[in-house]
Amino acid sequence: MVAYDHQSMLGVVALSSICIFFFFLLQLVSKADAAGRPIDMGRQYSNSSLSANGLGLAPPMGWNSWNHFHCDIEEKLIRETADAMVSSGLAALGYEHVNLDDCWAELNRDSEGNLVPKTSTFPSGIKALADYIHGKGLKLGIYSDAGSQTCSRTMPGSLGHEEHDARTFASWGVDYLKYDNCNNDGTSPTERYPVMSKALLNSGRPIFFSLCEWGQEDPATWAPDVGNSWRTTGDISDNWDSMTSRADQNDEWASYAAPGGWNDPDMLEVGNGGMTTEEYRSHFSIWAIAKAPLLIGCDVRTMSNETLEILSNKEVIEVNQDKLGVQGKKVKKNGDLEVWAGSLSNKKVAVVLWNRCSSRATVTAYWSDIGLESTTTVSARDLWAHSNQTSVKRQISADLDSHACKMYVLTPQ
Ligand SMILES: *[C@@H]1O[C@H](CO)[C@@H](O)[C@H](O)[C@H]1NC(C)=O
Ligand SMILES: *[C@@H]1O[C@H](CO)[C@@H](O)[C@H](O)[C@H]1NC(C)=O
Ligand SMILES: *[C@@H]1O[C@H](CO)[C@@H](O)[C@H](O)[C@H]1NC(C)=O
Repeated sequence: MVAYDHQSMLGVVALSSICIFFFFLLQLVSKADAAGRPIDMGRQYSNSSLSANGLGLAPPMGWNSWNHFHCDIEEKLIRETADAMVSSGLAALGYEHVNLDDCWAELNRDSEGNLVPKTSTFPSGIKALADYIHGKGLKLGIYSDAGSQTCSRTMPGSLGHEEHDARTFASWGVDYLKYDNCNNDGTSPTERYPVMSKALLNSGRPIFFSLCEWGQEDPATWAPDVGNSWRTTGDISDNWDSMTSRADQNDEWASYAAPGGWNDPDMLEVGNGGMTTEEYRSHFSIWAIAKAPLLIGCDVRTMSNETLEILSNKEVIEVNQDKLGVQGKKVKKNGDLEVWAGSLSNKKVAVVLWNRCSSRATVTAYWSDIGLESTTTVSARDLWAHSNQTSVKRQISADLDSHACKMYVLTPQ
């Protein structure tokens, strides 16, 4: 979530363009700051390293309520989502997290300082919801904020209550925490996020820690010792410009990702209706090759077959989950024609040819662009057409519609 109040969705729509403008201003200012004083990497966090929680060896996969439902969530929706994750086959493909975002709790803590699930929408409580979700073989994620209140201002944040809230989450059986950055006290995320990291480690339950400080303090440089993923960008919106700009901002930090800690360009918009099928296919391909968390953001109870087809491409998912854990990156840019590539285990290479132009064009990757010896012969598996080209030499090309991509795995022969 971005740093403004969203009491009502109408307010969000009315304010969003102004807020996005200020958000970028803010980002420019903080980048300039960071450039001026070099960061002492990991010095004080190394011994509380959350890589010790053993989680996130591959990017997390699952669903989150925010992109489609915003604050309009309740326990029946979450249970039905868990049901649909299983019945659609998504769960079997590895989408295991069912994550609540903002607005799940009452405005105030109880007299003992506990967060209280909102009685009008989560009357059975979070423990019962976790039990239901675990019963489906899935995991429950929850949301809080390193400030006094969450972004919606409809529930408390965890700043100053980290140990208490981490114990509460563990007692409910929570498996994942997304930790936002609204309404904070102005201190650096490098001070506020490690406190929750430590609290989660002390909670007695392995809990995936997803930092969401919007890329403000260059989290790739310090968050690998604090959590399992960190947002590198402001919130995504369901349109081409937002999606491509998040892909590009996230790409700058590619070298910092590794098993246990991932760059996060925000959750998927596939299936929410604001982009074309080709744009969503590109969105999913780039998130996959960039080893981004694959957190579905649409209504999986009513998604179209086209949406399901994109989200359940097993071969694209395998690239994302490859055990080498190397984030693929933009290796070549010729105007709006791009090549993204990254190493996979067993000497394979993943490649995306991407036409970001507004007209049809041919995109070519030469072996020198993607780290292959010029003499190497490969077989090329097209992950969307599910077809093979054998004995491919020197280069691979595709003629692509506007905003479309091709994704391949190249296997040296
Ligand atoms: C670091 O953590 C380990 C294991 O948790 C502990 O044994 C060691 O004493 C800690 N070192 C410091 C300097 O705190
Ligand atoms: C979607 O796929 C299902 C199962 O393959 C099929 O029964 C259904 O008719 C399809 N729906 C549409 C709208 O194509
Ligand atoms: C196509 O390539 C894949 C992956 O490289 C391989 O597993 C499969 O056997 C190939 N299929 C054919 C028909 O050659």
